[in-house]
Amino acid sequence: MAKLAVNVDHIATLREARGVTYPDPVAAAVMAEFAGADGIVAHLREDRRHMQDRDIKLLRQVIQTKLIFEMAATTEMIGIALDIKPELVTLVPEKREELTTEGGLDLIVHKDSIAETISTLQGNGIPVSIFIDPDPDQIKVAHQINADMIEIHTGAYCDASSEKKRTKAFSNIVDAAKLGHKLKLGVNAGHGLCYKTIKAFKGLVEIDEYSIGHSIIARAAMVGIEKAVQEMRRLVKEL
Ligand code: PXP
Repeated sequence: MAKLAVNVDHIATLREARGVTYPDPVAAAVMAEFAGADGIVAHLREDRRHMQDRDIKLLRQVIQTKLIFEMAATTEMIGIALDIKPELVTLVPEKREELTTEGGLDLIVHKDSIAETISTLQGNGIPVSIFIDPDPDQIKVAHQINADMIEIHTGAYCDASSEKKRTKAFSNIVDAAKLGHKLKLGVNAGHGLCYKTIKAFKGLVEIDEYSIGHSIIARAAMVGIEKAVQEMRRLVKEL
């Protein structure tokens, strides 16, 4: 049975939008675990736009399932990973100007530096996953440089502008998952998955875990709004 890792970055996005102390992604992570999440994902970006160093340290202390630390392969982030020792590091590309992680890591271009990062992390007991596009050449390099897992970028499928493009993008994901599995890599998938797009993955047993953030946090705001308004209405009535 496939697993679900919940990305809590967007709770931090909401907090940072106001520069206050709530909502706390650490509390959200604990609640996500109570609700059945198999793991918690947090991406500490160089610009600290959502997650802060304090969040990662606290997550490390309170997470009972597994902490998946998403990071760019920079000296600073490698140092933090070695310090907190997450159950898994997912290496992602990072651009300051992007709204969210836009594409997979290009292993053909960055093969040597990523191989070195993998070796450093693994040498310290931390397994490594690489976020890559569903491209067989990229997956073969991930295998060559000894990654433990790949996370297949599902963005092209989720954001496809036509049915034809969506079908093609999904077929690329299926092929990528099968190739990764054949090469004995762990296979995760994520980016842009929502309550509708996840349904297509039924029966794709090669995928071990889905990493989902934005749609879950967005849904939480909607399904929680009734209770939140009722609570405030009661307080206002009691004035
Ligand atoms: N996987 C990776 C590598 C990501 O960078 C992200 C976005 O932070 C996700 C999964 C989750 O994507 P989404 O928030 O669209 O569900």
